[in-house]
Amino acid sequence: MADMKSTFLDVYSTLKTDLLHDPAFEFTHESRQWLERMLDYNVPGGKLNRGLSVVDSYKLLKQGQDLTQEEVFLSCALGWCIEWLQAYFLVLDDIMDNSVTRRSQPCWFRKPQVGMIAINDGILLRNHIHRILKKHFRGKPYYVDLVDLFNEVEFQTASGQMIDLITTFDGEKDLSKYSLQIHRRIVQYKTAYYSFYLPVACALLMAGENLENHADVKNVLVDMGIYFQVQDDYLDCFADPETLGKIGTDIEDFKCSWLVVKALERCSEKQTKILYENYGKSEPSNVAKVKALYKELDLERSWNMRRKAMRN
Ligand code: IPE
Ligand code: MN
Ligand code: MN
Repeated sequence: MADMKSTFLDVYSTLKTDLLHDPAFEFTHESRQWLERMLDYNVPGGKLNRGLSVVDSYKLLKQGQDLTQEEVFLSCALGWCIEWLQAYFLVLDDIMDNSVTRRSQPCWFRKPQVGMIAINDGILLRNHIHRILKKHFRGKPYYVDLVDLFNEVEFQTASGQMIDLITTFDGEKDLSKYSLQIHRRIVQYKTAYYSFYLPVACALLMAGENLENHADVKNVLVDMGIYFQVQDDYLDCFADPETLGKIGTDIEDFKCSWLVVKALERCSEKQTKILYENYGKSEPSNVAKVKALYKELDLERSWNMRRKAMRN
C-alpha cells in the first residue's frame, strides 16, 4: 500500500510534466514556472484519499488480479483528475469562505504574489482535468462517459457550493431556518458526489461498467459522503488547527453547519438568544461564545457517542 502511494506520486510528476509542456500553449520560462509552483502548492499536498480510492476500487473490481502497468497508470491518472478537481474547488472555496490556511500552509490566494490571480489558477486547474483526460483516455471506449461524469459531478459540486453560500442569507434573516434537511442537501451536493461517488464511478467506467446499472452504489456512497462532511463540520470547530491543517471559519461565515443545526435543536430560550447574538460574526469574542455554547450543549460528547454507535 505504501508502495501504491509512491507509484501514485510518480504519476503526478508525469502528468505535471505533460501539462508544463502542453503543445496547445506556447510556454515561456515565467509562465511555466508559475504553473509548476501553483500545481505543487495546490494539487499534491492533501491526504490523497479520493485519488487513491480510484486505484483501490479498480483493484477490487478486478477481484485481486494483478493490474497491468497501463491499468495502474490510468487508474492513478483518474485519481489525479479527482485531486485536480478538488484543488480547483478548494482554491476558490478558500477565497469565498475567507479562509486563512489549508493543508498547513496559507491559502493560495493569501500568498503575496498571488491574490486574485488564484481565481484564474482555479480555472486552469479545472481545465487540466480535461487536458489529462484527452491525452490519456481519448482512444478508450469509455472516454465520452468519463468526460460526462466529470462534467456532471462538477455541476453538482458547484451547485452545492452555491446553496452553501446563499443559504447563509436565510440564516442571517432567521437562524432558526437552518435544519438537518437543509444541511443534508448542501453537503450531499458540495461534498458527497465528488469525494465519494466520483472515485468509484471512475473505477467502474475503467472496468467497462455502465453507470446506469449502479444507482445503488451511488446511493450508498452519497450517504457516506454526507457522514464525512458532518465530521468536517465538527472538526471545523473542535479540531486543533495544527492537526487539521486549516482554521475553521463556519461560525464566522454564518454557515449552515451540522453543529449549529444540532445546537438549535437543544437550546433553551436563553441559549438561543446567545446563539443569535454571536453567530456569524468575525470577532473572536463572538466566536468564543458560540463555541462555549456548543460545549455547554454537550455537542462534543454527543458526537463521540454517535461515532461509537456507528462503529458497533
Ligand atoms: C468545501 O466545503 C467543498 C468543496 C471543496 C467543494 P467546506 O468549505 O465546508 O470545506 P473546508 O472546511 O473549507 O475544507
Ligand atoms: Mn465552503
Ligand atoms: Mn471552506
